[in-house]
Amino acid sequence: MPEWTRIAAVADCPPGSSLEAVAGDRIVALFNVDGTFFALDGVCPHQGGPLGQGGLCGAIVTCPWHGWQFDVRTGQHQFSPRVVQPRFEVRVVDQDVEVRTAAE
Ligand code: FES
Repeated sequence: MPEWTRIAAVADCPPGSSLEAVAGDRIVALFNVDGTFFALDGVCPHQGGPLGQGGLCGAIVTCPWHGWQFDVRTGQHQFSPRVVQPRFEVRVVDQDVEVRTAAE
């Protein structure tokens, strides 16, 4: 069972923002949608772009490299139903954001 890993302070990722973090051997993209945190595998399935550095609009992140878009709540690609980015469980403990890096 993978352990929970602290990746940020709550204050590091205010509503409407995202960040990139490393948890174990995984790159995690963390998103704050109106105060709720979501975490995806941070490596874009297109060509490996950094999803955690993408712009967040509502619950949709846009990969900064070529513009693929994903719903951060589900990992669902916005145009191709076959592409779903793996998600990670995320929780807040005190003022820390933690993820569990076994993809759902
Ligand atoms: S690497 Fe993300 S859209 Fe191309």
